[in-house]
Amino acid sequence: MNVTILGIESSCDDTSAAVIENGYLLSNRIANQQVHKEYGGVVPELASRAHQQNIVPVVDAALKEAGRSLADISAIAYTRGPGLMGALLVGSSFSKGLSMALNVPLIDINHLHAHILSVFIVRNKNEKRFPGFPFLCLLVSGGHTQLVVMKNHLTMEIIGQTIDDAAGEAFDKCAKVMGLPYPGGPLIDELARQGDPHAYTFAKAVVKGLDFSFSGLKTSFLYFLRDRLHENKAFINDHKHDLCASLQETIIDSLMQKLIMAAKETGINDIAIAGGVSANSGLREAVNRLGARKDWRVYIPAMQYATDNAAMIAITGYYKYLNGQFSSQQMTPIARFDHL
Ligand code: KG4
Ligand code: ZN
Repeated sequence: MNVTILGIESSCDDTSAAVIENGYLLSNRIANQQVHKEYGGVVPELASRAHQQNIVPVVDAALKEAGRSLADISAIAYTRGPGLMGALLVGSSFSKGLSMALNVPLIDINHLHAHILSVFIVRNKNEKRFPGFPFLCLLVSGGHTQLVVMKNHLTMEIIGQTIDDAAGEAFDKCAKVMGLPYPGGPLIDELARQGDPHAYTFAKAVVKGLDFSFSGLKTSFLYFLRDRLHENKAFINDHKHDLCASLQETIIDSLMQKLIMAAKETGINDIAIAGGVSANSGLREAVNRLGARKDWRVYIPAMQYATDNAAMIAITGYYKYLNGQFSSQQMTPIARFDHL
């Protein structure tokens, strides 16, 4: 019998639905919310309203693209958290209602766990190239920066994390300082391609062990620009490529330094990256380069599965389904998780 999982993601500003059957992706639809652009960040109330408008058409489109009907669904996997409470409520309430109507089980998914399992998303068996267990994952998103040891698909241990800002936040906050629109990460990536990564140096935090810190970088970047703007009002515009390249290099360097340490301490050579920042071309190159030097086997999610999507929710749901891990109608969303 087929195991067909409908995945639903609504933790931030993307409404997404995906269908995974027997471990293979059949469809992955994402409705991005444009309403936040003019506000310089995600406005929670607007996100909830947009999810409410998008969720039915997105689920419908995902089923159609998959060539499946509601009657084919074995279980519904939805993001329980972490994320914006109002946004999570839309996806979880919709999923609960649909699971009752179809009389199929519900599976609650931790969004961060799902980011890590994005390296298991494939459309067919020729694409299969999966990490072995245990593997080490550098999880870098808008709200989280963690080093995680995956012992199997469902068991993990956080061995390092940021003590303040996440890497994605560092990209976005520094972009804002430069007057770039939200989210700044992808724009910095684009501008950095034509810049010199060694044009400027910014302060890198010294944090012991496998933890990270990025809040000092934003301050250092802000003061640097303030001084330069005194001398030249057009400094940012005149040097935006070099600024972005140098900033990106600083963030990547901090991440790589801890990744190397973690690989050494754990003795693990199967290395993955995941989360929105893993879409960064500089980071992808850096991990690949390092992997070749250190003899690591490197796993990087395809671009479309690096940022928020429901395919990662569905694949995590698939592994939880195989393990009989279902959730009840009583379960409520959680905005913040202290654990994975
Ligand atoms: O995983 P994600 O889509 O959402 C969260 O779970 O937070 O990550 C979003 C973060 C944002 O901070 C965004 O600026 C960053 O990922 N991001 C990037 C790139 N694409 C997305 N950062 C750097 N370079 C990129 N190409
Ligand atoms: Zn995410």
